[in-house]
Amino acid sequence: MNILVTGGAGYIGSHTAIALLEAKHSVIIADNLCNSSSGTIRKIESITGKKVTFYEMDVTVEEAVESLFKTHSIDAVIHFAGLKSVGESVEKPLNYYSNNMISTLNLAKMCLKYGVNRFVFSSSATVYGDNIVPFEESMNLLPATNPYGETKVMCERILTDLAHANPAFSVSLLRYFNPIGAHESGLIGEVPNGVPNNLMPYITQVAKGKLAKLRVFGNDYPTADGTGLRDYIHVVDLAEGHVAALENLIEGVHTHNLGTGNGTSVLELVNAFEEANRIHVPYEVVGRRPGDIAVCYADVSKAARELGWKAKRNINDMCRDAWRFEVHNGTGKTT
Ligand code: NAD
Ligand code: WQD
Repeated sequence: MNILVTGGAGYIGSHTAIALLEAKHSVIIADNLCNSSSGTIRKIESITGKKVTFYEMDVTVEEAVESLFKTHSIDAVIHFAGLKSVGESVEKPLNYYSNNMISTLNLAKMCLKYGVNRFVFSSSATVYGDNIVPFEESMNLLPATNPYGETKVMCERILTDLAHANPAFSVSLLRYFNPIGAHESGLIGEVPNGVPNNLMPYITQVAKGKLAKLRVFGNDYPTADGTGLRDYIHVVDLAEGHVAALENLIEGVHTHNLGTGNGTSVLELVNAFEEANRIHVPYEVVGRRPGDIAVCYADVSKAARELGWKAKRNINDMCRDAWRFEVHNGTGKTT
């Protein structure tokens, strides 16, 4: 298939572009590089030995998106492009609503106009809010506590309505849990903007000596060691989940959790990182971070049953690959 990958220069999009190319699909990337760099495109090509068609463009600009659909015969869209920082979304809600909603609306509109019937959307476990674990796709979504989460709920809703109104349309809503790690080549991975908000990039930067120590946000949660529990998934497993979702996509709306089904606490992740890489990660326990939930992990049985996909890599692999990337590439944007 000829696949339009928006946000394909970013963290998850770049790993997915590699997985798609390895599965013999063709990839067209559209990215405005607001959180990535064009060097990633060359790295995708050097890892796979295949050519990528790249457009530096903002997918909130309807004419730009339309010109893509006119120029290329597109079979499917995987829409990663979006802003993703929860904290920033609280400070700048309009940026989040306009970027994340308008990009999705533009792409959906052009899919209808040009007869592109396959759409895969990057959603998030954040749509489950503080439900009872494990989170199942059939659960009622709880109101998001931040604009970022709202955009995910709203985009899911728009794409669902669109598929209901157009029976030939196929939509895959993929709810990612906590992607970490990097490509095993060490060439691509995640470089956060400024001081990281997320746990793994914070750990790698402490290990590298860029930050003094990790702050563990709370050790009084109802978990075995009192720290928050998350379902960390290797980004390459996540990428492979997209190929499975795309290749098994049929008419209608299909929602799948992409996680491992296992919960790992903050301190367990720190210990696993220290063991995998034989490096010390100093930390101190501080108060809870506002908005955090105690426990979040997926029921992954639907993805296994319907997509024939399961995460294969373990916490040790995630820690090793995250550190390899930090050691080799810990500066610059995304690559
Ligand atoms: P990322 O920031 O690394 O990648 C997003 C890419 O989209 C970047 O390259 C950025 O330059 C591009 N982009 C943003 N707005 C754009 C626009 N208007 N036009 C063109 N390009 C634009 O983020 P990521 O971690 O790879 O996340 C990808 C998607 O997955 C996002 O939609 C995010 O919300 C979602 N998601 C991420 C996580 C996570 O923990 N990383 C979890 C759940 C869902
Ligand atoms: C994990 C655990 C923290 C940093 C976020 C988004 C979510 C999704 C994935 C996009 C928690 C603890 C963290 C630190 C810590 N993204 N922690 N010290 O919050 O589960 O999910 O990213 O959709 O929407 O909210 O991920 O990596 O920030 O936190 O103790 O410096 O690590 O309290 O228990 P989170 P995270």
